Amino acid sequence: MTKDLYDLGEMPEVGVVPKNMHAFTVRQDRFGDPKDAWKREVIPTPELGPKDVLVYVMATGINYNNVWAALGYPLDVIADRQKKGEPEDFHAGGSDCSGIVWAVGSEVDNCKPGDECVVASGWWDPEDPWVKSGKDPMLANSTRVWGYQTNYGSYCQFAKAQSHQIQKKPKHLSWEEAGCYMLCASTAYRMLMGFEPHTVKEGDVVLVWGAAGGLGASALQIVSALGGKPVAVISEEDKRDFCMSKGAVGVINRKDFDHWGTMPDTKSKEWGAWMKGARAFGAAIWECVGERQNPQIVFEHPGEATLPTSGFVCDKGGMIVICAGTTGYNITMDLRYHWMMQKRLQGSHVANDEQAAAVNELVIAGKVDPGMSEVYSFDEIGNAHQLMWENKHPHGNMVCLVNATEKGQGKTA
Ligand SMILES: NC(=O)c1ccc[n+]([C@@H]2O[C@H](COP(=O)([O-])OP(=O)(O)OC[C@H]3O[C@@H](n4cnc5c(N)ncnc54)[C@H](OP(=O)(O)O)[C@@H]3O)[C@@H](O)[C@H]2O)c1
Repeated sequence: MTKDLYDLGEMPEVGVVPKNMHAFTVRQDRFGDPKDAWKREVIPTPELGPKDVLVYVMATGINYNNVWAALGYPLDVIADRQKKGEPEDFHAGGSDCSGIVWAVGSEVDNCKPGDECVVASGWWDPEDPWVKSGKDPMLANSTRVWGYQTNYGSYCQFAKAQSHQIQKKPKHLSWEEAGCYMLCASTAYRMLMGFEPHTVKEGDVVLVWGAAGGLGASALQIVSALGGKPVAVISEEDKRDFCMSKGAVGVINRKDFDHWGTMPDTKSKEWGAWMKGARAFGAAIWECVGERQNPQIVFEHPGEATLPTSGFVCDKGGMIVICAGTTGYNITMDLRYHWMMQKRLQGSHVANDEQAAAVNELVIAGKVDPGMSEVYSFDEIGNAHQLMWENKHPHGNMVCLVNATEKGQGKTA
């Protein structure tokens, strides 16, 4: 007999969808510290459109975007969706997971109930004329980040995704390993391989900020798998070995420098001191590489605190590629170096399906590991975001069990 609500880990027959489900949600009246903003609730299981799938979530990755969702800043994702006509007054987030396809819409033909999967995080309207014309969906007007800008993500017992987001679960990974990597790995892959001709080539030096973080750990491994030389930046010495184990050719501790933040006016006295710091940082990169080679690609996401240095150390004709402004959005750089040395400043956001599939193949081939850090329980979703917000989280990608009841389950090869 179908029940209205199943416990986490209790498995109805494949295809049986209960009326309600467990989920972690944010509501507007509790925006603020992630540990208080995220709360467990029982909510209605969402209905599917013709191209949607419902995924029985085994484990969910924890990502920074849902720190922002908890804060309600820089975007109130609930109000934003309500403006577009969606009725829900909550955000059931989560942008990364492993699980089992549980139900599919009437027009879905690329997966079926029972398939083990991971879910890519790029969401768009399949009827969007831009997408239909074959152009990069990540540039379509309808594009959203799944489980951040869309509701019913991977902090739900049953997550609602679009069928094109479904990727194969790597058989050698447990549910929690498979649930933690896709958002960061696919974002890193697009940044490193999505902007020709600035893609990682054999021998290229790539500077990776926040290298022990979720994005950074993925970037180190992807660069290394593609034959490049990743140089890692960290702030605590206990992250050094971790970065070396993920393929870094050398590691720089940013606390050895103090020229961070907005660049001083180029006519001021302070600018000289800033320039001295930036040059010393550049020399530290050469020391890691073993020769005077500047980074062809600078993998950026801290933003305001680091971009002036990124702009300076980037090689002639190279690219600074950036997907976030974790430390602030008000960026500065010395334009003289930018134009004279013909550098490129490129924004990047999540990944399209091809990029998600390409990085998934690197994971399946064992060339990139998920970079899993700690495994937490479902009820620790709020605390895991709090650790991230305070930059006190363990290195790599955190994950929470959802329907998987124990660690280590789900490996089939
Ligand atoms: N647009 C997209 O598609 C996309 C996708 C994924 C993530 N993101 C964004 O990218 C950012 C990073 O995500 P993540 O998952 O890698 O987070 P994470 O695991 O928390 O890593 C962020 C890293 O940033 C470094 N950091 C913190 N403060 C810094 C500062 N003042 N200067 C330099 N580095 C600093 C920290 O490393 P150290 O303290 O060791 O230096 C930390 O490990 C977040 O803002 C997230 O929302 C964007």
